[in-house]
Amino acid sequence: MAITLRPTVAEIRLSAVRQNLQKLKRLAAPARVLFVVKANAYGHGAAALARLAESEELAWGFGVSSVEEGLALRESGIASPVLVLGSLYPFESFVEAINADLMVTIASLDAARQVTEAAKKLGKKAVCHIKLETGMGRIGARRPSVLKIYDELERSGAVCAAGLYTHLSSADTDQDYTARQLGFFRETAGELQARGARGLVLHAANSCAAANIPESRFDMVRCGIAAYGLAEGFEPALTLKTRIVFIKNVREGACISYDRSFRANRPMKIATIPAGYGDGYLRRFSNKADVLIGGRRCRVLGNVTMDMTMVDVTAVKDAAVGSEAVLLGRQGAQEITAQELAGLAGTITYEVVTLISGRVPRVCTP
Ligand SMILES: Cc1ncc(COP(=O)(O)O)c(C=O)c1O
Repeated sequence: MAITLRPTVAEIRLSAVRQNLQKLKRLAAPARVLFVVKANAYGHGAAALARLAESEELAWGFGVSSVEEGLALRESGIASPVLVLGSLYPFESFVEAINADLMVTIASLDAARQVTEAAKKLGKKAVCHIKLETGMGRIGARRPSVLKIYDELERSGAVCAAGLYTHLSSADTDQDYTARQLGFFRETAGELQARGARGLVLHAANSCAAANIPESRFDMVRCGIAAYGLAEGFEPALTLKTRIVFIKNVREGACISYDRSFRANRPMKIATIPAGYGDGYLRRFSNKADVLIGGRRCRVLGNVTMDMTMVDVTAVKDAAVGSEAVLLGRQGAQEITAQELAGLAGTITYEVVTLISGRVPRVCTP
């Protein structure tokens, strides 16, 4: 294992993820929970969290975005169902997916033919979920195509159409639109059932819908953000922290960071912390975000650089090399939330945590 000396880490509290998944499971029941761990579990570390969920039966299975992400779960010992939520391309990906028992999303007749061919070639039954377009406008077959896809798969005998699903675009912002999406989904599921489809797992809900819209739950809910505690009523699991590596006292007029992007208007005590946009701590936070040091909010000074960021610790008398600095999460009574950082950067919490880069070790705590 590579050694870790640099003190910048993302600490993941397993107890928070456990509690969030237990809550989702309770809310969704009798529907099952597909734990969405794509993009390295939204930056939280997919392998460790999938192992937690599998070993404690906190989820029925896992949602990933690509075959590669599914294979990585299999390599880390995950045996539960895994559904690839993305559209597979190149079509040779179907071979890898079938070999690793990954369930695939089929959103076009072309893909249905390709998965059938791959399954026949391997002599192994493929399992797929058909994706219906109801208004997300991303991937998904329209209703007439869904019916054709289903017929094609049934005829082949090589592929099991195990589920039908759709994705909601506005579950947290537009109830009418969401209701229309759900209505369209229900009708299409009814049509398939009228054609003889039995036992299809129906799913539409993301975290927000699973928590707040009972009629969206169907047979399964697909939850990401709430499991990580970044939806209302859930417990945040991730803390991004580091330690001060350098301290200086500066005079009035001293310039800090590239482009002299901060100028001291009084004598100040300034800490340098080893985290920057190369770690996913966005340059947009320059001169705007706070970092927690000594239990106090300390302002970022000047431009965030690739590997280091300067912080005002004038008010933290005992701040020294080695003092802990929390960029996201709690320290004492203070908290920097992902919502706060997302607001400063004009983005969403999903992006704030997903952008924490690969060089930041993920350290799980109980
Ligand atoms: C198809 C699909 N289902 C479910 C989810 C989970 O959404 P959330 O993180 O809002 O729960 C996502 C995430 O973007 C997704 O793309």
